[in-house]
Amino acid sequence: MKERSFKGKTVLLTAGPTYEAIDPVRFIGNHSTGKMGFAIAEEFAAKGADVILVSGPTNQKTTTPTINVLPVSSADEMYAAVQAHADAADIIVYAAAVADYKPKVVADKKIKKAGNELTIELVKNVDIAAAMGKQKKPGQFSVGFALETDNESANAAEKLKKKNLDMIVLNSLRDEGAGFKHDTNKITIIEPDKTTAFELKQKTEVAQDIVNLVWERLHG
Ligand code: CTP
Ligand code: CA
Repeated sequence: MKERSFKGKTVLLTAGPTYEAIDPVRFIGNHSTGKMGFAIAEEFAAKGADVILVSGPTNQKTTTPTINVLPVSSADEMYAAVQAHADAADIIVYAAAVADYKPKVVADKKIKKAGNELTIELVKNVDIAAAMGKQKKPGQFSVGFALETDNESANAAEKLKKKNLDMIVLNSLRDEGAGFKHDTNKITIIEPDKTTAFELKQKTEVAQDIVNLVWERLHG
């Protein structure tokens, strides 16, 4: 079998959650661990790619010299880092769980406890994948993720189109053992004219399946 190499290719990846500041000590975030994104980064690197990993706050670590981790906190910071490196990327993978909304104003001092109710007004964050999809370089290959609880395939297919992606990796929260809190994941990869379902596997093996399919689409 031919060596499935990504030598000479640059992969830009987003991973982890984003934290949207409320005040200097508080934020809105989510339970993403970054595990899936880091596993994909390791798999691309193992196959010879240079990886730029834009990561939200996570405990994940790498010692792989060809993975360059760029730590960010908010969606705006993540977007800026992605924009700065998109031109160099042959492949972009959007594995981050980006917060959809952020506080409209960030208090410059810690908000004091007062009254029985507190309302925080939120505004929509930039959709990084969609924004980058509008300025996609010719030949650049992009992969998104979709976490759905219902109407899974239709929702994922719509995101594929809306964000101008080449493939989208669907995680259904309905599947036992899949999602944020597990080391395993059960995915379906949706492409414009093809759908491939995979078994429940370790996230490291899921990463291999994703990277393999990207290789096949680029070389097949
Ligand atoms: N994404 C992104 N920037 C955002 C939101 C999402 O880049 N502000 C990316 C994610 O990294 C993922 C894909 O878009 O690859 C789909 O994310 P998801 O949260 O499933 O979709 P949304 O478009 O945010 O729709 P919703 O949360 O309402 O289902
Ligand atoms: Ca979302």
